[in-house]
Amino acid sequence: MTAQLIDGNALSRQLRTEVSQRAAALKARGVTPGLAVVLVGDNPASQVYVRNKVKACEDSGLHSVLEKYEASMTEAELLARVEALNDDPAIHGILVQLPLPAHIDAQKVIEAISPAKDVDGFHIASAGALMTGMPGFWPCTPYGCMKMLESIGYDLRGKHAVVIGRSNIVGKPMALMLLGQNATVTICHSATRDLKAQTLQADVIVAAVGKRNVLTADMVKPGAVVIDVGMNRNDEGKLCGDVDFEGVKQVAGWITPVPGGVGPMTITMLLVNTMEAAERAAGAA
Ligand code: GUN
Repeated sequence: MTAQLIDGNALSRQLRTEVSQRAAALKARGVTPGLAVVLVGDNPASQVYVRNKVKACEDSGLHSVLEKYEASMTEAELLARVEALNDDPAIHGILVQLPLPAHIDAQKVIEAISPAKDVDGFHIASAGALMTGMPGFWPCTPYGCMKMLESIGYDLRGKHAVVIGRSNIVGKPMALMLLGQNATVTICHSATRDLKAQTLQADVIVAAVGKRNVLTADMVKPGAVVIDVGMNRNDEGKLCGDVDFEGVKQVAGWITPVPGGVGPMTITMLLVNTMEAAERAAGAA
């Protein structure tokens, strides 16, 4: 058996078309959705990410500003910029690209962002809202994974989902989202004793570790849905995920490729969150 692909590029195109339509509708009411992306320092990967985020906004009819600062920027200066963006009515979403230089307390900066503009979903208010089922912004990567499951009409109720990885950005929020859809959820991590024994039980596996070949074919139950959040490079320098794609696709029922899977969905959900923030602000105005 060969797994069916869940195409993140195709799903992204569809969702971005919806965002464009919502942006046009809001513009007709005199409000242009706006995202501010703040980059401190010259991390090459971060520079690519922020360029892609700004371009995606422009392509979907959202306004975006990119603020770039030297790595020597102080924490106080960055906090002052965040405050100014909180007060800027043209900005509905604020994203401070991580990682930040070591002399800046990233959590302090994240907590300075108004929860109403926290389109990354990293603020503790957003995390608390997700945990308690209240309205708030969901972190973009796990939110994108949920959209991928929705796109294949997958009913999570009563299913066993295994999340590999426990980061605040992916693993933990992913587990809460799956739980919110009534899955039975197991979170595995570096101290898990027998990962294979866990994943073999799973109807859905989300691999979010950041290491190649964390999940191989012998660890997957036939027909399972496999979502690969990893973004790694193989020995030839080619982009690859956490999953041994060639092996696992022979066993799984559904699988997301890398590239062209979760990656494009992350930016798409950032656009969706920014759109939502703008609509909420316009509704409240
Ligand atoms: N660095 C890597 N991924 C992300 C992300 O999704 N948001 C932010 N702010 N920084 C990141």
